[in-house]
Amino acid sequence: MSRSRITGLGLHLPERVVTNAELERLMDTSDAWIVERTGIRERRFAAPGVGTTDLAAEAARMALADAGRSPADVDFIVFATITREHAFPGCGSLLQERLGIPGVGALDVHNACSGFIYALAMADAVVRAGQYRCVLVVGAEVLSTGLDFSTRGRDLAVLFGDGAGAVVVEPGPDDGPGVLAWVLHSDGAHAKDLVCEAPSSLVQGRITQQMVTAGQHYPRMNGRQVFKHATTRFPEVIHEVLGKCGHTLDEVKLVVPHQANQRIGDAVAERLGVPPQKVFQNIQRCGNTTAASIPIALAEARDLGLVGPGDLVVLAAFGSGFTWGAAALRW
Ligand code: ACO
Repeated sequence: MSRSRITGLGLHLPERVVTNAELERLMDTSDAWIVERTGIRERRFAAPGVGTTDLAAEAARMALADAGRSPADVDFIVFATITREHAFPGCGSLLQERLGIPGVGALDVHNACSGFIYALAMADAVVRAGQYRCVLVVGAEVLSTGLDFSTRGRDLAVLFGDGAGAVVVEPGPDDGPGVLAWVLHSDGAHAKDLVCEAPSSLVQGRITQQMVTAGQHYPRMNGRQVFKHATTRFPEVIHEVLGKCGHTLDEVKLVVPHQANQRIGDAVAERLGVPPQKVFQNIQRCGNTTAASIPIALAEARDLGLVGPGDLVVLAAFGSGFTWGAAALRW
């Protein structure tokens, strides 16, 4: 039984920078409120007509080149997103076609902010089982086209941005670098606390004018419930995954959490009892890119030299579902 390891990383952020000042012109908000409550100063939005798979393909090509691989080497794709271009098919098949690798299996993961952790766990499982040898794991989102840029939607519209991150997962020696452990959780009792209700299979025709008028095709969040549960589950799952692989927090070089909100990241560092610089955060300039946030952050942290050979790195996420999870990596 080999160990799976990340051999390449890539990211892609759209060119268009959207500042808080621009959002001030669309809704009753302020740069001061956004920075104080979320830490976000700017985010990227995809150009009109640019889709999630377009962003993903750029990040995927970067990750494959970083791994010294070509698309032809890929034998499985796991794609995490909540913003696929159509109800079906999912983005995994679209990415496979875009990379020109017909016949390669593709799995879509629809677990919102926890999506990348779930996707990485599935990639680890199939590589360790010897089923596949070069798995492309992608987290990508175009959230901007699904936000309510009005005062009604301001609590969420200021949080999110677009982007894509990707990693290549391959087998390696079981005493070498790689994925040491992962844990995955959910609690559907909180489904309504972070939800986008439409389109829905409960409704003939999937969506009604009444639902559109009520804004049910936009995400809705019980901010306080999300804050309360996120700041509990992040530390809990980080300790859990470390315990599962026999390590402790003081051995960890860097925690790379889903970039939910800087207040959440700061609270996680505080509750873990670690200095803020031990928890990587780039939300200030990317916003919350949901399933893309961890792979983008991990690629940036690697490029900044914040993680290197032999380091213990923990990835952790919390999101809609609620879902949450973590993975421990020996770099
Ligand atoms: N600009 C100005 N005022 C705003 C904005 C905005 N963009 N959004 C909300 N407000 C107002 C509200 O209307 C409210 O005003 P009121 O008291 O007059 O009604 C006031 O700010 C406080 O709103 P609350 O939602 O009660 O404020 P809260 O203290 O809960 O802060 C926030 C809201 C920042 C979302 C907070 O709940 C939070 O940090 N929650 C964590 C949720 C989160 O960040 N999720 C990220 C996405 S989900 C994920 O990634 C896991």
